[in-house]
Parts: sequence; C-alpha cells; structure tokens
Amino acid sequence: MAKQTRVIRVSKIAVIGAGPYVKNIEEIVRALNEHRNEKLEIIGFIDSDETKAHEEFWGYKVLGGIEVLGDIAGPVGLISVISAGGRRRMFEKAKNYDVTFPNLIHPSAEVSPQAKLGKGNVIAQRTIIAPKVKVGDFNKINYSVAIGHHCRVGDYNTLNGLSHLTGMSTITNGCFVGPGAVIFNEVTIHPNVTVGANAVVRNDIPEGTTAVGVPARILPK
Ligand SMILES: CC(C)(COP(=O)(O)OP(=O)(O)OC[C@H]1O[C@@H](n2cnc3c(N)ncnc32)[C@H](O)[C@@H]1OP(=O)(O)O)[C@@H](O)C(=O)NCCC(=O)NCCS
Repeated sequence: MAKQTRVIRVSKIAVIGAGPYVKNIEEIVRALNEHRNEKLEIIGFIDSDETKAHEEFWGYKVLGGIEVLGDIAGPVGLISVISAGGRRRMFEKAKNYDVTFPNLIHPSAEVSPQAKLGKGNVIAQRTIIAPKVKVGDFNKINYSVAIGHHCRVGDYNTLNGLSHLTGMSTITNGCFVGPGAVIFNEVTIHPNVTVGANAVVRNDIPEGTTAVGVPARILPK
C-alpha cells in the first residue's frame, strides 16, 4: 500500500451514526496518536436523530445532522460504520462540505505495500491484507480479517471479525460478511449479499440474497 494511504491530514474526526463502535474507533485513534505530532481528536457524532441532539452517547456528543458540518471549521475527517445503505447516503451528502474521508487503520493491521486502498475505510486490529488486493471505499473491515492475495473488495461492505476471503475472491458492494465466514478462492459475492456467521462459501452468491451454513446455502426470501 502506498504510504500516502495511511496519512491522515486532518486533526478532527467526526463519526457518522451515534453507536457503540465509537469505542473501537477511539482505540484506533489512540493507537495512531502514539505516532503523531498533531493528535487526532474525535469531535462527536453526526446523527440526524433530533432526539439525540446534544446528548452524549458512549462519551461523545451528537453534534447534529450532516448540515452541522457547515458550522464546523473544516476540514473534518469523516468515519462511518453504520449499515451500508445509511453509510452510502451520508457520505454522498457529506461531499458538499469541507470534509475528507481518511482510511482509519489500526497500526497492528498488516496491509501489504502491494495492496491498494480507496478512501474512508476502517481497518481494525490485526487484520491482514495481502499483496495485490484492491479495496474500494467506505468499508468496515473488523478485527483479524484475512484478505488473501488478489482479492477484490468494492465499496460499503462490512467484513466482520475473523472472516477470511481466500485468494482471488471478490466481494462486490454493500455486502455483510458475518464473523468467521470463509469465502473460497475465486468466488464472487454479488451486491447486497449477507453471508451468515461461520458460513463456508464455495460458489458465487447472487445479488441481494442471504447465504448461511457449511457449505453455504441460500435462504429462501
Ligand atoms: C445470516 C443471518 C443474518 C440470517 O439471519 P435471519 O435472516 O434472521 O435468519 P433466521 O435467523 O431467520 O434463520 C433462517 C435459517 O437460517 C439458519 N441460520 C441463520 N444463521 C445461520 C448461520 N450463521 N449459520 C447456519 N445457519 C444459520 C437458521 O437456523 C434458519 O434455518 P432453518 O430455516 O432451517 O430453521 C444471521 O443468522 C447471522 O449469521 N448474522 C450474523 C450476525 C453477526 O454476527 N453480527 C455481527 C454484528 S457486529
């Protein structure tokens, strides 16, 4: 991965969606700050739920909906791990403001210098991204995920802890891969698929379906 991909040029981070995962974002920021002169600071949540406005959740204030970015002296780095649809809508709206979309990568993650990352990805502790992998934008890649050589990961996916994409497999866009799932080599997971926890996926999975079990079967809609 180009060294540039890990550089975060802002000092303020806002988290879209008031949720408990902020505690892990906090942990990534803490670890990154050990190596930074200008410290990163989480300034609060962006959340349009008016009932949450100005309240604290998990230690951070809800600043307001996306339009509040207009009142904050930018640039602000935006992070989000909410559901794929919500993430897509919020990031689209956010482009109208003075924001950046940094990759927030825990220092214990191993990202090959031969891998390519887009923007706005969260990569948690101990994840491994092998050579020649391409990862797009706005993905949440949780703890100890293994992404094998030449895999493709598109945009707005959630890859849960200990899931394993074996070599040359593809996760397209908007997918949820449950914890511990294994995707066999060269398999393609089409858009908006849910893969259940611990599934073993040996064949391509069609768009918009849910696959569970060993070997994975597609649940009737
Ligand atoms: C895949 C998943 C989303 C399906 O949820 P759902 O659509 O509500 O499915 P249901 O619970 O109604 O189960 C439907 C069938 O699939 C089976 N099933 C569901 N999840 C399964 C799994 N992970 N492995 C094997 N079988 C599973 C159920 O036993 C049931 O089988 P049956 O029809 O023979 O009785 C869910 O089970 C799952 O694995 N979620 C992962 C959750 C998670 O890890 N979240 C992390 C958040 S950080």
